[in-house]
Amino acid sequence: MDAKATKVAEGIHRLSANVKNILFEGMWPVPNGVAMNSYIVQGEKLAIIDGVCGWDGVPETLLAQFEQLNLDVNDLDYVIINHMEPDHSGWLDAFRKVRKDFTIYTSERAKPLLEAFYRITDNIKLVKSGDTLDLGAGRVLAFEEIPNVHWPETMATFDTKSGTLFPCDAFGSFGAVSDEAPYDDTLQEEQIEFFEREMERYYSNIVTAFSVATQKAVQKVKGLDVKIIAPGHGIVWRREPDRVIRSYTRLAGYAKGPARAEVAVLWGSMYGMTELAVQPVIEAIESQGVKTRVHRVPESHIGYVLDSVLQSSGVVLGMPTYEYKMFPPMAAVLDEIGKKKIMNRKAFRFGSYGWSGGAQKELDEINERNKMKWDFLEPVEFNGRPTEHDIELARQRGVELARAVKQWTLGDAAS
Ligand SMILES: Cc1cc2nc3c(=O)[nH]c(=O)nc-3n(C[C@H](O)[C@H](O)[C@H](O)COP(=O)(O)O)c2cc1C
Ligand SMILES: [Fe+2]
Ligand SMILES: [Fe+2]
Repeated sequence: MDAKATKVAEGIHRLSANVKNILFEGMWPVPNGVAMNSYIVQGEKLAIIDGVCGWDGVPETLLAQFEQLNLDVNDLDYVIINHMEPDHSGWLDAFRKVRKDFTIYTSERAKPLLEAFYRITDNIKLVKSGDTLDLGAGRVLAFEEIPNVHWPETMATFDTKSGTLFPCDAFGSFGAVSDEAPYDDTLQEEQIEFFEREMERYYSNIVTAFSVATQKAVQKVKGLDVKIIAPGHGIVWRREPDRVIRSYTRLAGYAKGPARAEVAVLWGSMYGMTELAVQPVIEAIESQGVKTRVHRVPESHIGYVLDSVLQSSGVVLGMPTYEYKMFPPMAAVLDEIGKKKIMNRKAFRFGSYGWSGGAQKELDEINERNKMKWDFLEPVEFNGRPTEHDIELARQRGVELARAVKQWTLGDAAS
């Protein structure tokens, strides 16, 4: 496991571990891995902010980086826990084996979680927004609660001396990070763009259900004199912290829409009947200059589907009827999109049925249940194989959808 401690700013070091070949949270593909970052902050006292997961070898990787800095874990005075999810707190079990007594600084809502996950009940100092911890040598840490980004207990820590914000999950991204260059100022533009793509998928998979909380957190952050953003996942933003703030503002806004002037096309088909209309619809949308992001369901993992749907103002759903309901993998995907609170899409459904239909009823139920408020064009349903007329109708709806998306996103009245 590659892991090298690097200097973020005077008295601040980044420790980290990259994890690969896992499904993050047990379900999200991370083909490029994911980094978990931890930070050592030195005044006269020594604090560690955030940790890593507890899987085989990962805590050891973190502890080994103390040695690189000529530090001993026994030098630590404070353990600051911004977020209790085990990807950041899991190392505590291993840490406790080498260090018996330590003082934890965390939010009030983290306390029961510390007991529930790690049976830790002592030496916990609870902090609220505005509370500070003086590390000496002019280094004062200020705490800011940012609840529900991503769990209820989440807080951010701000080093007033260097202007470094430690927001844990907020401003994070997927993607393993090279310890040679974990900073935006040590990366080429295309590498930063790689992390921005990884950030979009991370946001849609992990954060998007908490977009309102994220918007509130971003407002709080804007009230601080932030010079560096040092998140719990991904790269550290030193040259242009505003860039990641803008990205998160944009992504949080996408949840309620409008998002980009693009259309996500999700389709599934058993015997190719529904499929016959897929390409004509895509071509119709693109004929209006609107980009599509196409996913066959269930072949395309929900992690990627969510990314496309979050970023698109329009969604096409093509699926057959199955046992009086919607093609099940599509229903599952749609329900998850609803649970992630991706709302207010311009949408169009088409598909094939044999004798009764039923997909529409389930679609309405999912939309209602999750309060998605998607705005659907009239569906195009065909019996068995679509006729030329069915295809033409689906094509027309594709054009209508693309125009509606343009109008919504660009206010393009001429389209
Ligand atoms: C397992 C299965 C269950 C189905 N259940 C229904 C149904 O409840 N009502 C209906 O109208 N058609 C039903 N159909 C028929 C399909 O909707 C129809 O064959 C359609 O053309 C399939 O489209 P596709 O080729 O795009 O998968 C079912 C088909 C299969 C294979
Ligand atoms: Fe988290
Ligand atoms: Fe996390």
